Amino acid sequence: MAAKIISGNEVAKEIREELKKDVAILKEKTGVVPGLVTILVGENPASVSYVTAKQKTSKDLGFYSIQDNQPQDISEDQLLKLIDSYNHDPKIHGILVQLPLPKHIDENKILYAIDPRKDVDGFHPVNVGKLMIGEADYLPCTPAGIQQLLIRSGVETKGAEVVVIGRSNIVGKPIANILLQKQKGANATVTICHTATRDTAFHTKRADILIVAAGKAKAITADMVKEGAVVIDVGVNRIGMSGSGKALLCGDVDFEGVKEKASMITPVPGGVGPMTITMLMMNTVKAAKLAAGLK
Ligand code: GUN
Repeated sequence: MAAKIISGNEVAKEIREELKKDVAILKEKTGVVPGLVTILVGENPASVSYVTAKQKTSKDLGFYSIQDNQPQDISEDQLLKLIDSYNHDPKIHGILVQLPLPKHIDENKILYAIDPRKDVDGFHPVNVGKLMIGEADYLPCTPAGIQQLLIRSGVETKGAEVVVIGRSNIVGKPIANILLQKQKGANATVTICHTATRDTAFHTKRADILIVAAGKAKAITADMVKEGAVVIDVGVNRIGMSGSGKALLCGDVDFEGVKEKASMITPVPGGVGPMTITMLMMNTVKAAKLAAGLK
């Protein structure tokens, strides 16, 4: 039987409606308007399009938002000073530095310079550590979005065999950590596969929930998936151009084959992607609430 398609567009819309109400209540109660700055260094086309979407969504939700474009040759010192100025700006609750950064800039040094209270990406070691011990203020956006997709699609994670493909700091490691916590919407048995895993298919075939962030187009095929599994595809691979000049995308999962075997599956585009931006907005609202002394 063909899988139910989990629509990230629909779930993201539902959460954004909730956030709009939160923003209005926060403003009415405290006068605080969530403030977000997105810093873009250079003109990487994918980064430009992500940052544009983040800005548009934040404006739609009624945020105070700044798009700060910096030249490709900005020095590390200049960028650190810029971050410091936003750390001290009371109107800004969330700071996002779009990655990747140019080679001459140490990415970790930049991420560590962001005040952890304004780290709405959840990449600062303080926030990574808090996630590890089940005390997170801000979950990294893509993994948080995956968890929301599972919760809001009624997927039982407690006791489930979850297999994650990929061990990046942005997706693989944090989603494994999130689903491992003894908390609602988590409490799973988690395995992480990576480039040195001897037999990836052995693991994927026993997954109740398979989360794929392999960075390789159509790496997961139907023969690697258990009947009835829930499949979350985090991959975004550009495989050409449409007639109208739009990028044609595919995920890390062979969607056409796997949808015949899975019980639920996310599409690419329209699956995890829209959730990432929405969770950034959720983190920014949370940062504004915390700054206003609310929980
Ligand atoms: N580049 C790709 N994904 C992300 C993300 O989640 N946050 C930031 N800051 N940069 C990214």
